[in-house]
Amino acid sequence: MWTKESLQETIQSRMSDYRLIIASNRQPFRHAVEGGRIVCQREPGGLVTALHPVMEAAQGTWVAVGTSETDRQVLDSNQRVMLPPGKPSYPLRRIFLTKEDRNHYYYGYSNEGIWPLCHIAHTRPVFRESDWKSYQKVNQRFAEAILEEVGTQKAFVWVHDFHLALVGKYLKEAGASNIITSLFWHIPWPNPEMFRVCPQKKELLEGFMAYDLVGFQIRYHADNFLATVDRELESRIDREKTSVWYKEHETLVRPFPISVDFAAVSAEAESEETRERGRRLGEEFSFGGKQLVVGVDRIDYTKGIPDKLRAIDRFLEKYPEFKEKFVFFQLGQISRIHLTRYKDLNDEINALVEEINWKHSQGSWAPIVFTRRYLSYQDILALYRLSDACMVSSLHDGMNLVAKEYVASRSDLNGVLILSQFTGSSREFEDALLVNPYDTEAAAEAVYQALTLAGEERQKRMKKMRETIEQNNIYRWVGKVLSQLLKFEFQETA
Ligand code: F6P
Repeated sequence: MWTKESLQETIQSRMSDYRLIIASNRQPFRHAVEGGRIVCQREPGGLVTALHPVMEAAQGTWVAVGTSETDRQVLDSNQRVMLPPGKPSYPLRRIFLTKEDRNHYYYGYSNEGIWPLCHIAHTRPVFRESDWKSYQKVNQRFAEAILEEVGTQKAFVWVHDFHLALVGKYLKEAGASNIITSLFWHIPWPNPEMFRVCPQKKELLEGFMAYDLVGFQIRYHADNFLATVDRELESRIDREKTSVWYKEHETLVRPFPISVDFAAVSAEAESEETRERGRRLGEEFSFGGKQLVVGVDRIDYTKGIPDKLRAIDRFLEKYPEFKEKFVFFQLGQISRIHLTRYKDLNDEINALVEEINWKHSQGSWAPIVFTRRYLSYQDILALYRLSDACMVSSLHDGMNLVAKEYVASRSDLNGVLILSQFTGSSREFEDALLVNPYDTEAAAEAVYQALTLAGEERQKRMKKMRETIEQNNIYRWVGKVLSQLLKFEFQETA
């Protein structure tokens, strides 16, 4: 089984001659001022959940976008800061963007263009030429920073997600022959019919073709990608190897289902400190003596939060005996709030919470607690442990690591996972209560089932899910990607 230690050993024994550079838009930690002093806070999102433990083990360099003046203040003269606080293991190199580029590259092309293009969630993608220009420019800046970090050393550059599809192309154009490049696409890839509406489809796909290895969460997305390339580029697809030849360069295309640090989450979740945090949260939110269902999501229209709220409403309509005996706690992490679609979603959620709470409230009890407050990683684990069930209702999701973290945190085997069948993780979790979040009746029934499932049955299901991710943990994911990258190197030097 892959562990943090075995990954470290592999890296030391087989990769000591190479630098490992990870690049992503989102940084793992941000610095902020709280109560007059600088604090370092872990950022939300699956990408950070997955890659932070990897970087602790691999000790590479992480290149990402800094977002505040405080983020800038803590940097050394090479634009770096060591992470994580208290246990410095790897440097984060921060890039800073102008407000204009944040608008066009991040909000515009990445989140109004590619994000809705790749998720089937009924939000129309918008493509503007000015956004595309900025997307190119910022990708170029990432490539420049990476080249500075690498220098003349041999390096594996591992680029993450839809913000940075073109970085590999710019590295290649700079003639960096000492670099092997890989892109991991954390979100779904649509079918060719969907993708063809993108005005820059050819340029984007050509960007992919500059990488040596391109990874997707599940085979279905990798297959969609190959079908798209087949339709849009004059290329040769090798079905045996699942690779694409384009202009005399071969790009391998593989599914690598991402995961979490199972052992660390499991241990942290059962620690005394987590228990204490749980006690405090329970007091603060008055969970005492009630059954608890939790949800933890970035506030994004792909996560199906309104659908989840409607399922809770329907559950209480059908099973009023749960009134005053149950709480649904939803943590919503604010994200991309400058976009109208996200503002509207926040308004919609506020209105729904208000309406459902008003409809079902009795005395001082209301069924839904919705908070946008920052809760630390440990608080979230404490919340998982307090709960009877966790509900993930994504309308479309590459993987969804909340589901995996929840399972990893339940070493007591006492939680039930209600999971949308439209997440990548549903492929691994057959023992979750799988639901179609568009089907309010079925989702409400799943809540009922979760809260009434016999102890033995819930333990049996949780045990099986835990076995799955104990094996398919984050170190295995990295190990598989790095093993693949090492093969490239062997080919070159043979
Ligand atoms: O996994 C998808 C993803 O967009 C990541 O790239 C990102 O870190 C996370 O979700 C959070 O999104 P954002 O950084 O836009 O808030």
